[in-house]
Amino acid sequence: MKKIILLAALGILGLAACKTTVNKAPENVEKNLMKRADSVLALMSLDEKIGQLNQFSGDGELTGPVALRPDLLQSIRDGKVGSMLNINGAEYTRKIQKIAVEESRLKIPLIFGYDVIHGYKTIFPIPLGESASWDPEAVEKAAHIAATEAASAGQHWTFAPMVDIARDPRWGRIMEGSGEDPYLGSQLAVARIKGFQGTSLSDKTTILACAKHYAGYGNAQAGRDYYTTDISENSLREVYLPPFKAAAEAGVATFMSAFNDLNGIPATGNKDLIHDILKTEWAYKGMVVSDWGSISEMIAHGIATNKYEAGDLAFNAGVDMDMEGTVYLTEMKNLLKDDKITTAQIDESVRRILRLKFMLGLFDDPYRYSNPDYEKQTLLKPGFIDAARDAARKSFVLLKNDNQYLPLNPSVKSIALIGPASDAAADMIGNWSGRGEVKDVITLKSALETRLGAGKVLYARGAGFNDGDKAGFAEAIAAARRAEVIIAACGEAGMMSGESMSRADISIPGVQEDLIMELAKLGKPMILVLFNGRPLILTKIIGSVPAVLEAWIPGTMAGPALCDILFGEYNPSGKLPVTFPYALGQIPIFYNHKNSGRPGSQDKKFTSRYLDVPNDPLFPFGFGLSYTQFAYNNLNLNESSIIDDKPLEVRVDVKNTGTVAGTETVQLYIRDLVGSVTRPVKELKGFKKVLLKAGEVQTISFTVTKEDLSFYNSRNVWGTEPGKFTIFVGTNSQNTIEAGFELK
Ligand code: BGC
Repeated sequence: MKKIILLAALGILGLAACKTTVNKAPENVEKNLMKRADSVLALMSLDEKIGQLNQFSGDGELTGPVALRPDLLQSIRDGKVGSMLNINGAEYTRKIQKIAVEESRLKIPLIFGYDVIHGYKTIFPIPLGESASWDPEAVEKAAHIAATEAASAGQHWTFAPMVDIARDPRWGRIMEGSGEDPYLGSQLAVARIKGFQGTSLSDKTTILACAKHYAGYGNAQAGRDYYTTDISENSLREVYLPPFKAAAEAGVATFMSAFNDLNGIPATGNKDLIHDILKTEWAYKGMVVSDWGSISEMIAHGIATNKYEAGDLAFNAGVDMDMEGTVYLTEMKNLLKDDKITTAQIDESVRRILRLKFMLGLFDDPYRYSNPDYEKQTLLKPGFIDAARDAARKSFVLLKNDNQYLPLNPSVKSIALIGPASDAAADMIGNWSGRGEVKDVITLKSALETRLGAGKVLYARGAGFNDGDKAGFAEAIAAARRAEVIIAACGEAGMMSGESMSRADISIPGVQEDLIMELAKLGKPMILVLFNGRPLILTKIIGSVPAVLEAWIPGTMAGPALCDILFGEYNPSGKLPVTFPYALGQIPIFYNHKNSGRPGSQDKKFTSRYLDVPNDPLFPFGFGLSYTQFAYNNLNLNESSIIDDKPLEVRVDVKNTGTVAGTETVQLYIRDLVGSVTRPVKELKGFKKVLLKAGEVQTISFTVTKEDLSFYNSRNVWGTEPGKFTIFVGTNSQNTIEAGFELK
């Protein structure tokens, strides 16, 4: 009988999965999807509908599949679960899916979700590092590979990309995003979504993406995770929301509501944010999931007395699915009975979830082709490993290269490799490393030994990441004395960034600064390779170390990718996606700040300045050196004044003035000189990567549109205002050439 009900429904619906992206389906496709979702909805009891709105976590995480809590299995049979997270592997997901599609009354398949943040099995650089490539194509490719691996292992949905703008490096989750800039953040958000979702969600290489954490989470006061945010409407619209809007426009399948309270209302219960802006103003058709337990956390926020009130707030705000919360499961019937919510609202949320299940093709094949053999063939494919190596070398940022110590001479006689990151496989994949395994990681030590022969690499750990023990210094210094070149591999342990990993002191931790200074005293060629999930304050050591390469947390292929750069087989091209402060007290510090009425000048009293440190950061947004140099000339605008709708053409000549080929990221910024609200001193509005041979010149062109000149004005309306603008083009946010134009 049960079988008959479902088959009847599916017969009406047609089984083929939808070939379209999520928020942009053509009208007829959308209509069809809704018809299919509605025909299942029509068969559902209230309990089954409420059941679809819950997501629970499995306990198969990391250590491999273990039996689920029996009550959860029973809940799946009872139709009380719409989705599971943290169930891993083709075999295990199949086993759990089988329960849903064979033992529940309506046989509605589950969606399996997982945090595929920078790779599933093949681990790519952390998102912040990957963002330093300023290379949407490479970022899209990495997401596509992650999706392919995850899908082969039975996953349907990643909780990524994190598109939170973060201007406070104390916040550990800065590692999960694209840094401080809304423009770069939006471009890379779209690239990641395209990579995860492809063009058809029924494809073998795609999974649902999730724009998180909506919204403002990265603004946590004092950089403390989960903490309060207080953001003006202007900042919200111009800084924090743009990557989310871009994600919605790119058709991201799902959104996740954030933990933080935003201007007094927790994001998860924030109707303005979810119902009004996302679902109404942006007409978003996808589904909104809460963050882990964030519905009931509204009790601790002090905005709800109990789960009933929390559920009322979240559901009326527009949160469709409750992640690991049980609030909807236990409270929704009472809310309905008390007319706090309506059946139509419940239907609407269920429809959004069923729509995704149809798009994924789950009603057609609930296992979506995943099986242990295909999984085995897919994970860690050689092409994937190569892509991880390429993504890593693109992410490295050369911060300093005095005396051209880099690249190293390939026939170097000996290298002293010192520091806790030299051979620390787990720290190369760091936090949110999916199903990545330490055994698959190639560390810097092992890559150097493979390349040079073990005898030429004099390794001494020297110190731990974060302890006070200097006992290893003597051995490290002795090794350094014997070697021709010193490489210090230092920084943060892989788990010092990520969720709940805020730091109040963001210098290089433990006794590593002392170790670096001792090594620098030897006066030998020395390269500091830095590993970290956030900007660090390097002021104390920067003057003493001749060369510094920022390597972030580079992933499975850390060592080979680093060797490519160190020996000059790949010319570094990464640019900082986030400012590196000069001092802790400057935080929050970001390039697109306002001018103030008394722009700072350090030697002038009564200006906006510090007595003890400069206003400038140590390394500005967009900064990154190469083994060659680039010169910018002939900045040319096609018009000196334009009318509102006419795009402006900007051209600039970029020349490689050095002796080797190199890739430059040409950056375009604007400044609106006078507005009805104060405008930032610079805003990134375009960038292009160009590979130039030694001596080559290329003219790079940009088109600046009305949208690029728009902002949220004093009447809270998005649009342009006439007046004068400056265009800046250059190699980073500080070093630019400029020209002006007027918008009439
Ligand atoms: C995090 C989310 C994550 C979720 C599921 C939460 O603690 O904030 O980013 O997707 O857990 O693992």
